[in-house]
Amino acid sequence: MDKVRYGIVGIGKQGSGYASKLFAGMDKNAVLTAVCDTAEDRREWAKQKFGDKVKVFDDYEKMLTSGLIDAVIVDTPHYAHPVIAKRALELNIHTLSDKPAGVYTKAVREVAEYAEKERPQIKFGLLYNQRTSKIYKAAKAIIDSGELGNIKRIVWIITNWYRPQAYYSQGGWRGTWAGEGGGVLINQDPHQLDLFTWLAGSKITSVNAIAKTVGRKINVENDVTAMCTFENGATGVFITSTHDAPGTNRLEISGEGGKMVISGSNDFSMKLEFTKLEMLEPEFSKVNKVFMGKPKSKTIKVKFTLGEIIKGLLIDKGQHINVIRNFSSVVLGKEDKLIGKYEEGLNGLSFSNAIHLSSWLGKAVNPNDKKFEDMYYAELQKRIEEEKTNSIK
Ligand SMILES: NC(=O)c1ccc[n+]([C@@H]2O[C@H](COP(=O)([O-])OP(=O)(O)OC[C@H]3O[C@@H](n4cnc5c(N)ncnc54)[C@H](O)[C@@H]3O)[C@@H](O)[C@H]2O)c1
Repeated sequence: MDKVRYGIVGIGKQGSGYASKLFAGMDKNAVLTAVCDTAEDRREWAKQKFGDKVKVFDDYEKMLTSGLIDAVIVDTPHYAHPVIAKRALELNIHTLSDKPAGVYTKAVREVAEYAEKERPQIKFGLLYNQRTSKIYKAAKAIIDSGELGNIKRIVWIITNWYRPQAYYSQGGWRGTWAGEGGGVLINQDPHQLDLFTWLAGSKITSVNAIAKTVGRKINVENDVTAMCTFENGATGVFITSTHDAPGTNRLEISGEGGKMVISGSNDFSMKLEFTKLEMLEPEFSKVNKVFMGKPKSKTIKVKFTLGEIIKGLLIDKGQHINVIRNFSSVVLGKEDKLIGKYEEGLNGLSFSNAIHLSSWLGKAVNPNDKKFEDMYYAELQKRIEEEKTNSIK
């Protein structure tokens, strides 16, 4: 195979962008050969845009069995991600799912296990584009180098996802239990939930949370305060919303070796500051004899220039095509490692599911508990049922 022949299922807001980029030749190892959407207007858009060079389907089964594609990108609403991914794997088609991996971990785990046992030769990725951001890569490198020492606490306030009522009132699948399986956690936050668990580098063992709806006519949550513990003893706080104006984006990671802060309300002002102690805090406290003494530190600022941002090093559109380029290279055997493996979607998603479940039950939950997945699924079904008679959207 010279080039990976791609098909895309779901050419709405996001999938149409990937289709246009592949069609424009932005991945030299890929060619767009097919697209699929159940909506007629989207299929018309594709016919106008791509002409007869790209085959347009109305049913993903027909596209997956057409013999026209080696790989598929799944960009439908979230519930269908694991369903379509499973079918593509059965047909030996390399699969790149957009985030989130699914709505609930039970479905995602089943597909991930199928892939591992039955289709180990098929590449199966997740479109975690923010993992390619230079700022988060720098944070991960500082943590992995040991300079921050053991992590004590990780706190993320991400409340700058402002969405007015008009966003939710536009109809469709967004902002409903049946259509998308949650609110800010499942729609806006999957990248942050992934990075939160990826940077902490340890399994979450308990979650206590409040998830509620503030100021919008929707059934799903748009305001969350969650507290968690990690296997390595660290604690975490995750606060998110879609109704705060102005909102905040601030990630603070404290370790025995100092503190790292990533902040900035938009792509251009984002910065990373690492305040490094001269000696690890536990050692300082042992040797210090001064009443109210404090460890000495120096601050290292990692600020990115406008030029770097424009070149696609930060949160810009280049991130998504870079994940697709990585996927094509791995399919062709030119690179070994996927930026995001599908099963890694379970980390952030189980945190998200645990936040919902803790809030619904009014107590702390452990996402590793054997009954957790079934309990979450049952409680989610209750909300879907209630929504049928009590939809306020
Ligand atoms: N990686 C990112 O940064 C990022 C950003 C935005 C959205 N997304 C993800 O992309 C996905 C799609 O979001 P969107 O904003 O493009 O939504 P959208 O509603 O604009 O597009 C979804 C499309 O899927 C089509 N569709 C639905 N069911 C289908 C089926 N069974 N077969 C074929 N087509 C089907 C719809 O007709 C629609 O055109 C979501 O899961 C979302 O989380 C990812």
